[in-house]
Amino acid sequence: MMAGTDKDIDALEEIEPLEVLDLDEDEAAGEDVPSKYFSSSLNPFSNSVFPVLFLDKKLKIIYANPACENLFTGFFNLSGNYFIDVFGRAFEMEDIRKIRETILSGESGYSWKGEARIKSRDMVTVQTRVYLFPAELNIKEPREFVVMFDDVTEENKRLLRTVFLSLLEASKLKDNDTGKHISRVNYYSKRLAEELYRGKDEKYKRIDADFIDNIGFLASMHDVGKIGTPDDILNKEGPLSDWEWTVMREHTKNGAFILSTYPNPMAKEIALSHHERWDGSGYPFQLEQEMIPLAARIVTIADVYDALRMERSYKPALSHELTMAKMLEGRAVHFDPSLLDVFMRISGDFEAIYEANKD
Ligand SMILES: [Fe+2]
Ligand SMILES: [Fe+2]
Repeated sequence: MMAGTDKDIDALEEIEPLEVLDLDEDEAAGEDVPSKYFSSSLNPFSNSVFPVLFLDKKLKIIYANPACENLFTGFFNLSGNYFIDVFGRAFEMEDIRKIRETILSGESGYSWKGEARIKSRDMVTVQTRVYLFPAELNIKEPREFVVMFDDVTEENKRLLRTVFLSLLEASKLKDNDTGKHISRVNYYSKRLAEELYRGKDEKYKRIDADFIDNIGFLASMHDVGKIGTPDDILNKEGPLSDWEWTVMREHTKNGAFILSTYPNPMAKEIALSHHERWDGSGYPFQLEQEMIPLAARIVTIADVYDALRMERSYKPALSHELTMAKMLEGRAVHFDPSLLDVFMRISGDFEAIYEANKD
């Protein structure tokens, strides 16, 4: 469930603005001042493990407990802001309407449950289940409501990734490349993506915390399509014939097919395009330059660096220096030149990753 599209935001503006009444008026009217209540030592939520916030009838956040502040650290300030201003983009439009209706009309006993995705450039997206219910018992028309969050980010990620890790394990049974190669390609790709993120170059502005997290897992899937390559071709000692090469190249398309059910298209892009070359001489589609997805261009550099460093049946292991010299020859031929420049700058980290994760 993706939230936060432009359409959502347009639709959000169509919702009639909430009747705004500021806190001073409440105080003047002699109503309870919520902050006093929540700062009391009797507040059972102050050290609760559940991230909880309280809303008033106007959907203003009147209290957020430390667990809640903690869950959304780095995203936004909670207390004193309107719930919709803070979390509007995290919900589907229909859910926003529902939440508002629930509080105003008392539908379903003032209770609602749903999901939210809270996204920012600097933090990995937080996925939560959300529960809304009245804060007070025995009151016909509650004035305060509890919103409880259940962070399922790690759980969802683990479930999804476990399935694909099994596929990766299956492909490793066939492929000669080691498990360490696969992990190293993850580490290099993540490192390179982090550097692009820090560099703040306009060209790479779509690299965010999610991109870095995803490439650090999905890079390892680049050769998963080899599961469909016949063993005699995969393990052949001598050079491959033209026909065998044709079959070998199919691993990119097979990989994309296998990964097409992965919710993030990056998985498919990496499998399909990690053998494309900047000058258009790669495969399977002879894409060139920025037609090649960015994630695939990053993984190409990581994969080739590691392949050169490793000993393979047909070649010895190369030193870091020799590998660098060879890769430089591929600048703007095999590799994206600006990515290669960034790689050259942080190549010491590539060497360190290789050394720390040797076969
Ligand atoms: Fe490959
Ligand atoms: Fe590889």
